[in-house]
Amino acid sequence: MTARPKRVTVHDLAAARRDGRRITMVTAYDWPTGRLADDAGVDCVLVGDSLAMVVAGRESTIPATLEQMIYHGEIVARAVARAMVVVDLPFPLQHLGVMRAVEACARILKETGCQAVKLEGTAGQAGVIEALVQAGIPVMGHVGLRPQAVHQLGGYRLQRDGEALRHDARAAAAAGACAVVLECVPREIAATITAELSVPTIGIGAGPDCAGQVLVLHDLVGLSPDRVPRFVRRYADARATITDAVARWRADVEAGTFPGPDETLG
Ligand code: KIV
Repeated sequence: MTARPKRVTVHDLAAARRDGRRITMVTAYDWPTGRLADDAGVDCVLVGDSLAMVVAGRESTIPATLEQMIYHGEIVARAVARAMVVVDLPFPLQHLGVMRAVEACARILKETGCQAVKLEGTAGQAGVIEALVQAGIPVMGHVGLRPQAVHQLGGYRLQRDGEALRHDARAAAAAGACAVVLECVPREIAATITAELSVPTIGIGAGPDCAGQVLVLHDLVGLSPDRVPRFVRRYADARATITDAVARWRADVEAGTFPGPDETLG
């Protein structure tokens, strides 16, 4: 029997921040992508509410439900043996009072087997983070561009209010967040926040000075059909590879060359 690898914990994230080792986090929404991400050796696998857009083709992350996050979170948490699995708290649970948030995050932790939750919010949600941490639930904060607030923010755009961003990130860290995701934040502001916080920042569209980086896996491997944001670097063209494979299989079936003798039973 192969030994189970040692799980990445909040202590490892803190140690990485202390030692200046950059943290990596990538999204996964199902068994195969969870396995892929874990095999690639990332520190954290995020079951993001971006699944509403990436796997369900919705316009925003707002339609993601608690039941959907639990369903996908449980699959990914079973697939991932080493990385810390983080599941997003979907809109609007962090705004419905501390008890509703604790209840929802406790369900996420119990029913998925994940190791942490992530929640979007401003300094106004610090009390929720504090209560979750008190309950023993590790929390990642998410400030800057908060996709759940896309309509309030006027679109998916760079967030430039340095004072507000610093305030929100400091509040999340002071409340006990184990890391803070900074989304679509100018490089200088992200660098200042990273230097100010004792916990790691994990950037997406926030420049190279964050303590870690996160990307949506489908963007990273070229599986997203639509245009990806400028801050994404595409490391593969999986969409072309898969489309080509299916088209070649279709051609073989139509030509009568699949299945051949090796693929025929009996
Ligand atoms: O939902 C998500 O995938 C996220 C990342 C983009 C950080 O929150």
